[in-house]
Amino acid sequence: MSEERTVVEHPDRNLAMELVRATEAAAIRAVPWIGRGDKNAADGAAVDAMRAFLGTVAFDGLIVIGEGEKDEAPMLFNGEHVGNGRGPACDIAVDPIDGTSLTAAGRPNALSVIAVSPRGTMFNPKDAFYMEKLVTGPDGIGVVSLEQSIGDNIRELAKAKQKDISEIVVAVLDRPRHDEAIEEIRAAGAGTRLMRDGDVAGGINAARWESRIDMCFGTGGTPEGVITACAIKALGGVIEGRLNPQSEEERSNCLAAGHDIDRIIRSEEFVTGDNTFFVGTGVTDGELLDGVRRKGPFIRTESVVLRSKTGTARRVIAEHKAEKWLESTRAADLV
Ligand code: FBP
Repeated sequence: MSEERTVVEHPDRNLAMELVRATEAAAIRAVPWIGRGDKNAADGAAVDAMRAFLGTVAFDGLIVIGEGEKDEAPMLFNGEHVGNGRGPACDIAVDPIDGTSLTAAGRPNALSVIAVSPRGTMFNPKDAFYMEKLVTGPDGIGVVSLEQSIGDNIRELAKAKQKDISEIVVAVLDRPRHDEAIEEIRAAGAGTRLMRDGDVAGGINAARWESRIDMCFGTGGTPEGVITACAIKALGGVIEGRLNPQSEEERSNCLAAGHDIDRIIRSEEFVTGDNTFFVGTGVTDGELLDGVRRKGPFIRTESVVLRSKTGTARRVIAEHKAEKWLESTRAADLV
């Protein structure tokens, strides 16, 4: 018998499959605060739970995008290391709740999200709070750009998707700063989906083949832009951004931090390399994900788990036995 043995190449680890427990935990712990009018309490509960679960994952995560600078954020602050310290060195962006106001008001579309990439590959938005963003799916590659007007982008995307312009739907944050863009979108013949908050979900929806949203456009958070870019890397599609400071102070801080505020940041610059992970769990119901539900003895969560290396997108529906989940997380002092 030959001594030769077949070498089986095992597929490498999908870190996101483990990280999803952290977004699930954050979403579950935020539930008592849904509709209670206290966004800080909702965020605090989600932060505690996310951090505790991140601590169980074998990796060395350096928070590039977190709850803020150490002085104002006691946990999940920028520069903090999370994970058990063993395993791959990664950059990590966390948003325990994207849509804290939505959660506090009991409105749809709040998500808990995490994005991860190899160490040193994630754009650091330091001091740049706001960014103009354009996100769409694979049909928009080489077709849309922030170099063009929103009207031209709509016309070009409609052609690429072989749709009538009247069928194109653009998600935009409902803010006075977007009044002109909203007019332009409608004048081009497209429709708008005005979002109260939560442009991570808006961006992801714009890139999903089964969503009714074709494009997400407008100025929102820079950190949310980077998180969205990690998801787009896995889904395929386009994200472009251009810093858009909303005050003189932000503008001068951006410049002092070395940002070029006129430059368009392309998809591949938000996060370099091709091994990014994205996980998101619904807090409240939305177009992307169902929110947390209590069903008899179960707590049901729905999450999306994305990995760029393979392009696999998973939907993870978990039924947690409420009593056991709450008991074990308390007993292990996890939350
Ligand atoms: P929070 O959950 O931190 O409140 O962020 C929600 C959000 O809507 C983001 O999705 C978006 O990028 C940003 O706020 C927009 O900022 P603003 O509300 O200042 O226009």
